[in-house]
Amino acid sequence: MNLTLKIWRQKSPKDKGRLVTYMAKGISPDMSFLEMLDTINRDLILKGDDPVAFEHDCREGICGSCGFMVSGQAHGPLKGTTVCQLHMRHFTDGDTLVLEPWRAKAFPIIKDLVVDRSALDRIIIAGGFVSVDTGSAPEANALLTPKDNAEIAMDAAACIGCGACVASCKNASAMLFVGAKVSQLALLPQGQPERERRALSLVTSMDDAGFGNCTNESECEAACPKEISVRNIARLNREFLRASFSHPAK
Ligand code: FES
Repeated sequence: MNLTLKIWRQKSPKDKGRLVTYMAKGISPDMSFLEMLDTINRDLILKGDDPVAFEHDCREGICGSCGFMVSGQAHGPLKGTTVCQLHMRHFTDGDTLVLEPWRAKAFPIIKDLVVDRSALDRIIIAGGFVSVDTGSAPEANALLTPKDNAEIAMDAAACIGCGACVASCKNASAMLFVGAKVSQLALLPQGQPERERRALSLVTSMDDAGFGNCTNESECEAACPKEISVRNIARLNREFLRASFSHPAK
């Protein structure tokens, strides 16, 4: 396959950035999208040019490191897939693809396709965990959890924090991410002692980071490579209201 790639090149956060055209020639349909970019980078390095910066780690759709816009779609056109798991056979010989970084105020561009997603880490640090002693495996097995709750919590826990939800939302809202993180613990017995504090802290941290508000567009659900449901946003709103009544602002 031969493709034309228009890739966002930006040397540093202060650089203005621009789209640069590259030709990807002799690409195997069995290559992943990142392997295709590796061939572009190999050629750039051989010519003594700066390779295209993009994030990746597991390349198995697990870690959430990778992610950029492919012709306006977060992680590309295939539903429920990270860009590292997207294969070139889903494109057509001769296609022109535009690769751009996530665009959001809370995700400043570091270089080329790499953005600073530490705002998501700060949200988790604000309370997206269980710090009380929940015992070991035998105690966990002895705590009965309704099957539906366990299933929904597991689905929410599939969020890999890639930021596609933010990048695809016209408001750059992180509500799907925060909804998933709040839901996965609010539905389990181990998450109950810190349930209200967690909902309040995560929402406060999300607002402080400069993410926008949710206006129920559902683009986040459509773009999510783990197909996290927007029902988690509704649950987050309920959790936040519940916590606000129990802990009114002073
Ligand atoms: S590199 Fe880990 S999810 Fe894509």
